[in-house]
Amino acid sequence: MKKEIILTGDRPTGHLHLGHYVGSLINRVKLQEEGNYDKMYVLIADCQALTDNFDNPTKIRENLREIVLDYLAVGIDPSKVTIFVQSMIPELAEYTFYFMNLVTVSRLMRNPTVKNELKEKNMDESIPSGFLNYPVSQAADITLFNTTLVPAGVDQEPMIEQTNEIVRKFNSLYGETLNECKILLPDSDICKRLPGLDGNSKMSKSLGNCIYLSDTEDELKRKVMSMYTDPNHIKIEDKGQIEGNTVFTYLDAFCNDEYFKKYLPEYHNLDELKNHYRNGGLGDVKIKKFLFNILNEILTPIREKRIELSKDMSYIDKVIIEGTEKARCDAINNMKKFKHAMKIDYFE
Ligand code: TRP
Repeated sequence: MKKEIILTGDRPTGHLHLGHYVGSLINRVKLQEEGNYDKMYVLIADCQALTDNFDNPTKIRENLREIVLDYLAVGIDPSKVTIFVQSMIPELAEYTFYFMNLVTVSRLMRNPTVKNELKEKNMDESIPSGFLNYPVSQAADITLFNTTLVPAGVDQEPMIEQTNEIVRKFNSLYGETLNECKILLPDSDICKRLPGLDGNSKMSKSLGNCIYLSDTEDELKRKVMSMYTDPNHIKIEDKGQIEGNTVFTYLDAFCNDEYFKKYLPEYHNLDELKNHYRNGGLGDVKIKKFLFNILNEILTPIREKRIELSKDMSYIDKVIIEGTEKARCDAINNMKKFKHAMKIDYFE
């Protein structure tokens, strides 16, 4: 069986949160452990992050190492996975430049994820061309390394689609050179798009509704206790609603029967708990405490490992520098067939 080349990435604009964890990090660690790959890369997308943070490069700089701390804390193993910095691979910029010829501006404007971001950021009027182009640069990230599989969240689906369109266009113009890739989404719908604490759309830094992997136990407790539930469930006796109740959405994502035995033995499973809530007589504080215990059990080892790792930042630097050197070698190598196909390898 042909082995995969796996690549994914994150913008270093802040610490990673629970949405990243269920949406992509868990899958990365699983793939890493299954070992069915030739190569596995994680790219720190600083250039992409700059496309909407060009006025605040300090933010990107400060988060570069933080994001690697998050990776290692969840179990990404730098001896198996090449972690590298986008801006330190100039071939990516070069690739992007040629790919820009293969996409129309109107196609870029139709990318649903980009459209959403433009709306969120009120950029409708003055779109920097760099921002509009970031899906093209992402196509370069993916294809330069011959990627076959991209573990990512649903918001990345339009990027993969656009990448494969570029690949087909390239191949039809310059001959079969690049391969298409597939996205690997999380198993469950909830994990595909974990809502934020406020129950609003997805967990997102800019909306300030995140639980970070690096949050302290106190921060975690405070956040869980402030979560959106059912606004009409005021007294304990009131009948409660499960649908759209963020605490139950999270329980759906994280809870199993073992946690009941440990933290809430008067119930056997989530269905029992939900029924009680629906019928009235179960207070929000109780379900929130239960959720806190579960999340704290999941996040404590991650938090502790992160603190341990942060005591030696020179090790983190070493991981980034060595990973980037490795990725650069692959990039230079893979660039050759690309230039040959485009007939710009004049003196080879
Ligand atoms: N767009 C991704 C994000 O916003 C980051 C990213 C950049 C990426 N290049 C990639 C993801 C290549 C997967 C593959 O998080």
